[in-house]
Amino acid sequence: MSYETITAVVNDRIATITVNRPDKLNALNDRVIEELELAIDEARENPEVGGVILTGAGRAFVAGADISGLEKHGAVTAKALAQRGQQAFGRFETSPKPVIAAINGFALGGGCELAMACHIRIASEAAKFGQPEVKLGLVPGYGGTQRLPRLVGKGRALQLLLTGEMIDAQEAYRIGLVNRVVAADQLIPAATTMMQTILANGPLALAHCIETVNAGYDQSLDDAMTLEATAFGLLAATNDKAEGTRAFLEKRAPKFQGA
Ligand code: COA
Repeated sequence: MSYETITAVVNDRIATITVNRPDKLNALNDRVIEELELAIDEARENPEVGGVILTGAGRAFVAGADISGLEKHGAVTAKALAQRGQQAFGRFETSPKPVIAAINGFALGGGCELAMACHIRIASEAAKFGQPEVKLGLVPGYGGTQRLPRLVGKGRALQLLLTGEMIDAQEAYRIGLVNRVVAADQLIPAATTMMQTILANGPLALAHCIETVNAGYDQSLDDAMTLEATAFGLLAATNDKAEGTRAFLEKRAPKFQGA
């Protein structure tokens, strides 16, 4: 499919989706949101795709919702706008195929929220993060008040949400907002290498890890453990398990003999 505001290419089982409005620092207008949802759904459905890397063109990952489009909204349409974005970002979070955000620059507002909807975040040293919505008299609308405290804890999340200040990649790493920080020219290679490591594992095992973490996260430990046991039982009856265990034992059999 061809897009106006993003690009999507598939190479060696990895779909790379790039937000591509560099002159507007990849700000999210209706079209970008729509195309991001189309692209992640296309990747989810394409049997040739094992995982997704999401990044931005130019000096931003995404510098937030398109501020120029905000003025026209009142209470009702702004709520619908937030829910529309939440729905699109949810397609990344619930993707059964792993999604790595490769954060090349500004990840502000909706950009930070989009990165948080991905499963893993790798940041370039040039990346900057923040939820500056309060500076516009707003709250985040695409999940920032919910995913940020879940990732970094309530106190740190509230600091970012209430000050609206930007933090650099090292600070984002320190507070657990990103998994890794790498030199700018190593960003896509690092994301690709991590994705290749992930894709060496069985696709059903990956999908069930993602689903079990997502579904269990907000449940009681007892209920979530039952979900995990059910997934474990299901996986035990799949080719992923048969293949994975066979390959593992073949490689390391002597060590496990007699165990
Ligand atoms: N919405 C719409 N346009 C945006 C944008 C956004 N969120 N963020 C940046 N842009 C546009 C600018 O208007 C400018 O366009 P122009 O060249 O046509 O005037 C272009 O992107 C470059 O931005 P500029 O502000 O000139 O770059 P900078 O390096 O001086 O500053 C930022 C970079 C990210 C600090 C600054 O652009 C900014 O604060 N953006 C808004 C971030 C934000 O509040 N996001 C949350 C929105 S809810």
